[in-house]
Amino acid sequence: MDKKRLLRLENVKTSFLIGDDYYAAVDGVSLDVGKNEILGIVGESGSGKSALAFSIMGLHPKKKSKIEGHIYYKDEDIATASDRRMNKLRGGDLGMIFQDPLSALNPLMTMGDQIGEALLLHTKLGKEERKEKVIQLLNQVGIPRPELVYNQYPHELSGGMRQRVVIAIAIANDPTFLIADEPTTALDVTIQSQILDLIRRLKDDLDSGIILITHDLGVVAEMADRVAVMYAGQIVEIAPVRELFKNPKHPYTRSLLQSNPTVNEAKTKLHVIQGVVPSLVNLPRTGCRFASRIPWTPESAHEENPELHEISPGHLVRCTCYKEFYFPTKAEGAAADGIS
Ligand SMILES: Nc1ncnc2c1ncn2[C@@H]1O[C@H](COP(=O)(O)OP(=O)(O)OP(=O)(O)O)[C@@H](O)[C@H]1O
Ligand code: SF4
Ligand SMILES: [Mg+2]
Repeated sequence: MDKKRLLRLENVKTSFLIGDDYYAAVDGVSLDVGKNEILGIVGESGSGKSALAFSIMGLHPKKKSKIEGHIYYKDEDIATASDRRMNKLRGGDLGMIFQDPLSALNPLMTMGDQIGEALLLHTKLGKEERKEKVIQLLNQVGIPRPELVYNQYPHELSGGMRQRVVIAIAIANDPTFLIADEPTTALDVTIQSQILDLIRRLKDDLDSGIILITHDLGVVAEMADRVAVMYAGQIVEIAPVRELFKNPKHPYTRSLLQSNPTVNEAKTKLHVIQGVVPSLVNLPRTGCRFASRIPWTPESAHEENPELHEISPGHLVRCTCYKEFYFPTKAEGAAADGIS
């Protein structure tokens, strides 16, 4: 693999056993992340972002899921790695900040022991040095009175505090590659910016590659080098961050950008495409998955199964007919809706 590239996914498909059949929640995702690069992943609830993150980390229970395709970390295909190998990589080279801190923490272990365990598994630090390092990490993620928190259990802490502990565990061993799944949603604005700084430092100081999953397009704009937009288990658009914000092509990306309050504060209802991501069982598996969300587009204007294709260097779109239909500009849309 090219020396700058850390992670490469080739046609990754993750399916869950529901009843007697497998249904794909991640369906043919290919992407790569380089050293010193942040790839943002956005997409509404249920689009498969966490399922993709868990696939990379090898965290889906094998009995109820299956992964096809390749996930290369450096030159090793970790999609087929043993549990033993993944246990060694996770928490060491590969870090993950989980979306749901409660399920990521062991309710029966103190915070000190949980962070200490990550160090114990991957370093040779002695007991005292470990404690010192844990306190330092707790400080780093903005936890006041770390000595007290050291001896507390997850249920004794607020959601925001638990999230910070999850972040401390994820960064304890300076991971080369980090997935941050909604890392700052539960945190207030000041702590949010401290955590984002921490992630940025990881990238700059250690040359780490990072996947940052978030609903917050403001965070993406500020942090990411490139952005992938997911819909119904697939990437529908991927581009360098400025290009995506300046020149979004897929109707879904355009809708996301238009509905982002930080982009268009007073007009949040404009252009929002109605409906939700269909459930896995009800997902259309042929034709464009997005067709049901844009009923005003004539069927004839659609390609049957749009493929992700490159329209300018590094900018790929899974829609062939975006040129065919008319999208009002923000100003035109506002005028039509009587908002001035
Ligand atoms: N273990 C599982 N078994 C069955 N279905 C699952 C499982 N995990 C996720 N799914 C389904 O896969 C789809 C994608 O879920 P996922 O959690 O990846 O969405 P997401 O993009 O992370 O959403 P959110 O923004 O709410 O976190 C959903 O339809 C979800 O119900
Ligand atoms: S291919 Fe057609 S249905 Fe699919 S996103 Fe593009 S315009 Fe919409
Ligand atoms: Mg999720």
